[in-house]
Amino acid sequence: MSEVIQTLRWRENANGGQLEMIDQTRLPATFEYLSYDSAEGVAHGIRTMVVRGAPAIGVAAAYGVALEALRLCRNASDHFDQQLELGFTKLAESRPTAVNLFWALNRMRKCWQQHATQAKTQLASTLLNEAKFIHEEDIRINHAIGANGASLLPDGARVLTHCNAGALATAGHGTALGVIRSAVAAGKKINVIADETRPFLQGARLTAWEMVQEKIPVTLITDNMSGHLMASGEIDAVVVGTDRVAANGDVANKIGTYMVAVLAHRHGIPFYVACPLSTIDISVMSGEHIPIEERPAQEVTGYRDYQWAAEGVKVRNPSFDVTPAELVTALITEKKVIHAPNEKNIKELFSD
Ligand code: MRU
Repeated sequence: MSEVIQTLRWRENANGGQLEMIDQTRLPATFEYLSYDSAEGVAHGIRTMVVRGAPAIGVAAAYGVALEALRLCRNASDHFDQQLELGFTKLAESRPTAVNLFWALNRMRKCWQQHATQAKTQLASTLLNEAKFIHEEDIRINHAIGANGASLLPDGARVLTHCNAGALATAGHGTALGVIRSAVAAGKKINVIADETRPFLQGARLTAWEMVQEKIPVTLITDNMSGHLMASGEIDAVVVGTDRVAANGDVANKIGTYMVAVLAHRHGIPFYVACPLSTIDISVMSGEHIPIEERPAQEVTGYRDYQWAAEGVKVRNPSFDVTPAELVTALITEKKVIHAPNEKNIKELFSD
């Protein structure tokens, strides 16, 4: 499947190849790819949010492992296994909340274990093939999520989304924006309302950019406006993505999502969460056990080089929050739509 926005791409070169990722810290002012050739580099790209969004982080980490194996072969490392292990650790430490990171690292580890007897150069190319497979698979999954979710949105719907769960947050198409893209492709007229998403502005910078690129009507609002729009009858549905869903259906997503879910509940507006199975973490019983990343204070006190807050002020910057399952109308997965998610129907999702 060839996607309009290629968040990540693999390019062959004399060293066996490099990973290129759109620098999302600079969008929409600058559209530029940065190149990576090691696990440490990719971990840095994840930490600094060059690449962000749960599925995209997972795909980047998979390539990070493959790049590290290629690099160790090039340098004829005497300690291949220990060094590759170190690469896994660096990637695992890059960000804590999106479970897709750990899911992808587990996939890569399994692949390593299954092919441990291969010559190192052969192993590196096997790991690269697995990363490419995870990349392609994510695009297929997002199209399936889109197809499953599109029917939930009525023609003419005004749909609020928070953060960016679009092509930029995945290998392509997106999860929440994938549902919107698929509904539009099915001939529906959809108007997107994008929350700005303080403090990192994924809504204003990324979601708005994606929608404008594809000429899907989009209106930008600040985060404190959604209650007013809901009360005024200007929002018909909410669709968001997620970084980790607990076994009981609690949903961790970008800070501010919980607020939107409470408001949607208050106004009887459906609140949908688009999510690949790889984002469901059945090892975590409920949302309170999901690790919530705390990001630098500078993201709250100003933007880029400009500081607007008082010097020395104390700051909190939790990057995610948890929406209790009872506020989620449905989870839209690549397999099926789960209405009123709970421990039982989530367990069934993995068994049938
Ligand atoms: O901090 P970010 O930008 O990585 O957070 C992204 C989100 O919260 C997305 O909504 C989530 O990862 C789902 S992306 C399909």
